[in-house]
Amino acid sequence: MAKTSSPNIAADAFVFFGATGDLAYKKVFPALQNMVRTGVLNVPVIGVAKSGWTVDQLKDRARKSVEENGGGVQPEAFERLMKLLDYIDGDYGDPTTFQKLRTKLGNAQCPTHYLAIPPSLFGTVVEGLDKAGCSQGARVIIEKPFGRDLASARELNRILQTAFPEKQIFRIDHYLGKDAVENLLFFRFFNTFVEPIWNRNYVHHIQITMAESFGVQGRGKFYEEAGCIRDVIQNHMLQVVAFLAMEAPTNLYIESLRDEQAKVFHSIPPITPKYLVRGQFNGYRKEPGVSPTSQVETFAAVRFSIDSWRWADVPIVIRAGKSMAVTATEVTVRLKRPPMMRVPIDKNNYFRFRLGPDLALSLGARVKGPDDPNNRFATANTELAAVHKAEADEVDAYQRLLTDALRGDQLMFVRQDAVEAAWMVVDPILGNVEQLEFYQPGSWGPAVADELAKDLGGWVNPVVQPTPAAVPSLDVAAD
Ligand code: BG6
Repeated sequence: MAKTSSPNIAADAFVFFGATGDLAYKKVFPALQNMVRTGVLNVPVIGVAKSGWTVDQLKDRARKSVEENGGGVQPEAFERLMKLLDYIDGDYGDPTTFQKLRTKLGNAQCPTHYLAIPPSLFGTVVEGLDKAGCSQGARVIIEKPFGRDLASARELNRILQTAFPEKQIFRIDHYLGKDAVENLLFFRFFNTFVEPIWNRNYVHHIQITMAESFGVQGRGKFYEEAGCIRDVIQNHMLQVVAFLAMEAPTNLYIESLRDEQAKVFHSIPPITPKYLVRGQFNGYRKEPGVSPTSQVETFAAVRFSIDSWRWADVPIVIRAGKSMAVTATEVTVRLKRPPMMRVPIDKNNYFRFRLGPDLALSLGARVKGPDDPNNRFATANTELAAVHKAEADEVDAYQRLLTDALRGDQLMFVRQDAVEAAWMVVDPILGNVEQLEFYQPGSWGPAVADELAKDLGGWVNPVVQPTPAAVPSLDVAAD
């Protein structure tokens, strides 16, 4: 039965399922240590898992986790976290697991349950929480993938809403907690100079490359169920598009940001297979957990546009892949050519947003070039760097989002209507709708993907040797 939504109050207990798992090890413990350090976490932390462990074993694991993934033990914060940490070892299908949790929660009015577990277990855990009375007034945090297509996303939501109202459901897409991604909003909406040109009159096209030089890193089993489109395009990449393309939210109505985000997804016509390239890196089929005849894509490139007054006919191309040439995620918003330039596509007027692993925001511009006896008006390209940081740290994204969730701030979490609208965009390209193109590890993906961006001047390959912010590069223009 759906419960009434509780007011925006601070959580008074943090429960995380999957406490002995991978996500907890890589992300959650480091985030919790930082949250204790910054003073936002000062409530009981209860880990739940079925591993046959004791609380001391979990504490050892937490220590290793922060050593390996959290920049080391911060003695004071870590000690405090250990005092807050408790553990329940139990099967998620066993009601006594949840009865124990109910007892440990005591008088907590607003516990926050983080399901750091595979989605196939969500239903069991949500039911267990509800039956034991642990969902009353509580919040639930879930991780992407939110379903594996539109139909299953709706089913997942139905299950969640049997115990939690939408206002209490926090869907994490960690991209929304990244500095570099949030910066897209800050850059667009806290400056006046951007808005006049941020539309189809000035923007030639938008492109995003999310390249990862590593493979599936032992996650073959998970990846076989997902593939690149489900893993990163439906969520991370479309969220980036939303921040780039949305209308300005209003200060007066906090939900307007998520309204605008959903509106972008609703304005993208479903992508057709014609504008899709699916790739698989050679060697993927030999990864543990991967079928020797796998048809799953480890690379995808897509092209679409947004059917809105602001963006109609502006091509948007996205490519993402594993085992690519570098690890870098970068957005290029290329502007139309100025009339002086007698070239069809001007490659030197653009905004460049590096979203990871470093963070950069720069403006490509043209200035007077060195004297050239044959060309009195020779130009040179320069990049004006507005922001440049060597690292855009992902642990920060979890820390930021879990902090928001404890405070009950849903702004940077994905609303169900947005989840569904994003699935509608990719639903026609899920599965084996296009033949697989194979590519060499360390390359930029299958060569046929070049076709999707050919008339746009080609893909921009992110360069992984950032130039220092203070010294903009000055190279002579080719055109
Ligand atoms: C995850 C995907 O959501 O995001 C991974 O499941 C991917 O496959 C990762 O590697 C990328 O995140 P980031 O923060 O490293 O860009």
